Amino acid sequence: MSEAATLLRKADFPGLLTAGGEVWHYLDTGATAQKPQVVIDAMARALGSDYATVHRGVYGRSADMTLAYEAARQRVAAFIGGREEEVVFTRGATEAINLVAQTWGLAQLGEGDRILLSTLEHHSNIVPWQMLAERVGVAIDVCRLTDDGRIDLDAAQSMLTERHKLVALAHVSNVLGSRLDVRRAADMAHSVGAKLLVDGCQAAPRLTLDMVALDCDFYVFSAHKLYGPTGIGVLWARSDILDAMPPWQGGGAMIDRVTFEKTTYASAPQRFEAGTPAITEAIALHAAIDYVDSIGLDQIHQLETDLVVRLRRELTAMNDVTVFGPADSAGIVSFAIDGVHPHDLGTILDEANVAIRAGHHCAQPLMDHLGVSATARASFGLYSDESDVDALLEGIARTRRIFGSVSA
Ligand SMILES: Cc1ncc(COP(=O)(O)O)c(C=O)c1O
Repeated sequence: MSEAATLLRKADFPGLLTAGGEVWHYLDTGATAQKPQVVIDAMARALGSDYATVHRGVYGRSADMTLAYEAARQRVAAFIGGREEEVVFTRGATEAINLVAQTWGLAQLGEGDRILLSTLEHHSNIVPWQMLAERVGVAIDVCRLTDDGRIDLDAAQSMLTERHKLVALAHVSNVLGSRLDVRRAADMAHSVGAKLLVDGCQAAPRLTLDMVALDCDFYVFSAHKLYGPTGIGVLWARSDILDAMPPWQGGGAMIDRVTFEKTTYASAPQRFEAGTPAITEAIALHAAIDYVDSIGLDQIHQLETDLVVRLRRELTAMNDVTVFGPADSAGIVSFAIDGVHPHDLGTILDEANVAIRAGHHCAQPLMDHLGVSATARASFGLYSDESDVDALLEGIARTRRIFGSVSA
């Protein structure tokens, strides 16, 4: 067992116990992370003693809330190496990608233009582009994967043409854990005049981010995978791009001046935040980032890597188990056991207080590529430790006994 294979943080997370007070081996952080008490407390305070609206009130509590909401934006910007005017709060990564498709995409793309995606994308980074394609006639190309499940950037290089206006790729695959060399993808996209959108949902909780060094044009992620609340996410976009993007949803807070003859719009990022925003969620996201930073993403990444290495080693040693994705997967291990449907495995594991994800993981084209309808997926978080891997392996051994699997 590696020294680093625990950060001793389980006690910070009330969600890691079952209703009966037993240890819950939560291995579905890739879907959504459990919340530390500091985040729950921040949210409760914001909904309770601190609560008021933002941006409109002339009374003190509202002014304080506005400061707290904007401080959350500054905190996000600092966390990802961006600037606050480049940070738009959305409902999540899905909404952020739809926003880009329906503002920048509608304004900039048309017949004859092309978008490059990859085989491993989450449906959130496929369907918004298909919907855009139906409206404006843009074509979609799909970059293949390497044998070990990475986006094949050599193939992408040979596919890219001056017709490509957008490359949209996952930073970390939610199924395979494979990591993208974002800088290389950005250089390649820019060399043909295309923009790069990065889906950072699985990367933001695992990798240190620096928008300047990555040099992408759009970056999106969801707070709930970063130990924060649901209902809020981030669209980061380069200022010059954001400033030129037309508004998306219309309503309060996104305007400069409204008359029945003509309405003018606020500057970015407010232009993209119509209506009363997710105030309490933004404040809780701030607390989540503080918490993650107090531990350090390098430590978190090291812990998850140690757990991935051990789990992959143990699974690979079983001759009826297929392990998907590269050896250096970031925090995520997808696998299949011969003759055992992932849903059956998930159900049997649940009886032993082990929670994994079983299904297509919102990545059906990737399932088709892997030749399966579903996989079992264990995904780690900063609270994971060796005991979770032990419990998973015991549950797998039990499942294989039940199903009469043969290997050692
Ligand atoms: C890689 C990836 N992209 C996009 C999403 C969508 O995130 P959300 O549902 O929070 O908008 C997810 C969530 O599972 C994901 O893992």
